[in-house]
Amino acid sequence: MPYQDLARAHPGGIVDLSVGTPVDPVPPVAREALAAAADSPGYPLTYGTPRLREAAAGWLRRRHGVTIDPADVLPTIGSKELVAWLPTLLGVRPGERVVFPELAYPTYDVGARLAGAEPFATDGLLALGPERVPLVWVNSPSNPTGRVLPAEHLRKVVAWARERGAVVASDECYIELGWEEHPVSVLHPDVCEGSHENLLAVHSLSKRSNFAGYRAGFVTGDPRLVRRLLEVRKHAGMMMPAPVQAATAAVLDDDAHADEQRERYARRRAVLRPALERAGWRIEHSAAGLYLWATNGTGCWDQVRALAERGILVAPGEFYGDAGRDHVRVAITATDERVDAAVSRLQ
Ligand SMILES: Cc1ncc(COP(=O)(O)O)c(C=O)c1O
Repeated sequence: MPYQDLARAHPGGIVDLSVGTPVDPVPPVAREALAAAADSPGYPLTYGTPRLREAAAGWLRRRHGVTIDPADVLPTIGSKELVAWLPTLLGVRPGERVVFPELAYPTYDVGARLAGAEPFATDGLLALGPERVPLVWVNSPSNPTGRVLPAEHLRKVVAWARERGAVVASDECYIELGWEEHPVSVLHPDVCEGSHENLLAVHSLSKRSNFAGYRAGFVTGDPRLVRRLLEVRKHAGMMMPAPVQAATAAVLDDDAHADEQRERYARRRAVLRPALERAGWRIEHSAAGLYLWATNGTGCWDQVRALAERGILVAPGEFYGDAGRDHVRVAITATDERVDAAVSRLQ
């Protein structure tokens, strides 16, 4: 893309803030567990090891006030594959509508299409009228906006979906990265009122533990739905490699590395945000997660160009839906050195 070349041509080199890929080291606790499990000649279980399921349940209880039975945890190969295949795995049929936020990670749309279903981007469920839909995605904290949905809002979505027999799938891959607001899981008692019926929470280790290269996540929630997913995934060969299962359990048991990583992002965000503001951008939402959702009032491509001229590459908001046409998404996932370079170029 030409703007990438423009940013690359900057004498100080490109500062790539266009993708949310982790750049900091994989924590030693993970590498040690991975190495210790390197001799894994047999097939791993699709269901995962009991240790992994216990670790996932322990993490949700400890960090997010969510109580689940470890039996209801199912490992995934990162969360993107689950997002892309969930409508198919749940048996969503052609012609049915899969609902997701107006501004969203593009894979919800992909997943609807893979199932032959109709993607439907809306923030207002009332727009659906009395129509029954099989699946509604929520994503808090949001990619791309960093918006956090309060428990009250999530509770309404859950009530709406339950009345219609819809499944609510909650993509919670940024849940550990709340800044001004505290994200809450769809499985928290304040949201689900004690029942996980029709609910799935989707988690990822990519951001919390710099694990994007390991491909590790899990899904949990309604035991009936998890069993169904397990059944299909077993026969489809969707299993997490055994050494990755061991490393995933190790990072879920450890909070120190996650706190350290959070601090790195907090610092980058604390310098980038005011630098963008001083340069004429307004930051909206962005109360959590790894992105600043920014606008200077012009079209997104003009903003991408203005920043690329300073050697800073960002993502145009329209990648995430038409409603993003006047915004850009600025990732805080670059090294301190690159973030500082961006800050000085914005002066
Ligand atoms: C909202 C959202 N969901 C899911 C994913 C997938 O992450 P992974 O497959 O690394 O778990 C991402 C990645 O950036 C994301 O932003």
